[in-house]
Amino acid sequence: MPNIAASVEAVPRSRIRELAEIAMSMDGVLRLYFGESNLPTPEYIKQAAIRAMQDGFTFYTENAGLPSTRAAIAAQYRALHQVDLDPATEIVVTASGVQALNLGIRCVLDPGDHALALTPAWPNGSSSIMMANAAVQQIAHPLCGERYRIDFDALEAAVTPRTRMLLYTSPSNPLGWVATEAEQQGLLDFARRHDLWLVADEVYDRLYYGGARLGDPVPSVLRKATRDDAVIVIHSFSKSYCMTGWRVGWLIGRRDLIAKATQLNEFIVSHAPTFAQKAGETALAEGEDELVRMLERLKENRDLCLDALRGVPGITVPKPDGAFYLFPRVQGLDDSFAFCRNLLMETRVGLAPGVAFGEGGEGSFRICYAAGRSILEPAMERLTKFLRAGA
Ligand SMILES: Cc1ncc(COP(=O)(O)O)c(C=O)c1O
Repeated sequence: MPNIAASVEAVPRSRIRELAEIAMSMDGVLRLYFGESNLPTPEYIKQAAIRAMQDGFTFYTENAGLPSTRAAIAAQYRALHQVDLDPATEIVVTASGVQALNLGIRCVLDPGDHALALTPAWPNGSSSIMMANAAVQQIAHPLCGERYRIDFDALEAAVTPRTRMLLYTSPSNPLGWVATEAEQQGLLDFARRHDLWLVADEVYDRLYYGGARLGDPVPSVLRKATRDDAVIVIHSFSKSYCMTGWRVGWLIGRRDLIAKATQLNEFIVSHAPTFAQKAGETALAEGEDELVRMLERLKENRDLCLDALRGVPGITVPKPDGAFYLFPRVQGLDDSFAFCRNLLMETRVGLAPGVAFGEGGEGSFRICYAAGRSILEPAMERLTKFLRAGA
């Protein structure tokens, strides 16, 4: 009997999924384990997809995505970041953020190469590196007072002759940490000095509470990098527009990388779904008011959860500036999966275990606070009661 390839067997399961699969077999669970809201995609986006189908956007498109979708993405970068991108050569529309991550990583790593990843982080980045038959070295963000930082000394010490890339996520899933401009510059300088690709996962850049007003994005690293830098930006429609099930995202990078990624896309998915690309254009063009309303709601949810958790002895939870997660640390906890499973069984609240997020994640759990209040409020009540009982 032939075996499954050893390199594939070595890719670990997502422990978020593992917990979720138990929860999905149960009734009445308050589900806060995935990175999405229970609120549906806004009506204007659904109508745009229906219109697109009626208008004939049901055929194959270019591997890089529809020219009009790439133009809309470029226009968004010009408006939000004052960055000029060439839609013809510097953008690929992908079938989701995770596909953008996979494609970008596949283009820069050879088997046996090494990659660095800042963690705790969404596990798919490290797993994509392993799927490219490369090795990943995770460098944990240290928590200094109320803020996570980057351990540049640990990064320097981890570079080997085979290190080819550094992956970071800002705003972070699961920390909600947002890189300062000085930290972005530090990462860029580090990557330039060691000849590395800098892969910036910016899928949460619109979910930012630290700007002058809600709706201001986290400044993209593209503002600091030149178009000749070895910088790749990952993005998605999923989070900003409640489009997780639509599977549309994008990749921005140097022209030679984008040319190769476009070619490879043919063999992976060919292109993102055509009518979903058109709906994405509408989201970018018309989505600002709805986005700000969502941010107001998310900020209130964040503060509700923070207030509830900060009253519980033994819990440390920094106030995050971005994304829609809290990552509380529980004093003395050394098996976050068992903790989340017990919580699920006893209270029917589903959270993601910290161990799923790699180095620095054990001892914590992740709450996605994007859910509606009818779910979030009882979930927080049950969770804090469980924590106070000393589980
Ligand atoms: C950090 C990060 N990057 C990328 C993604 C990918 O999102 P999608 O594949 O839905 O576009 C996610 C989703 O949770 C994420 O948390």
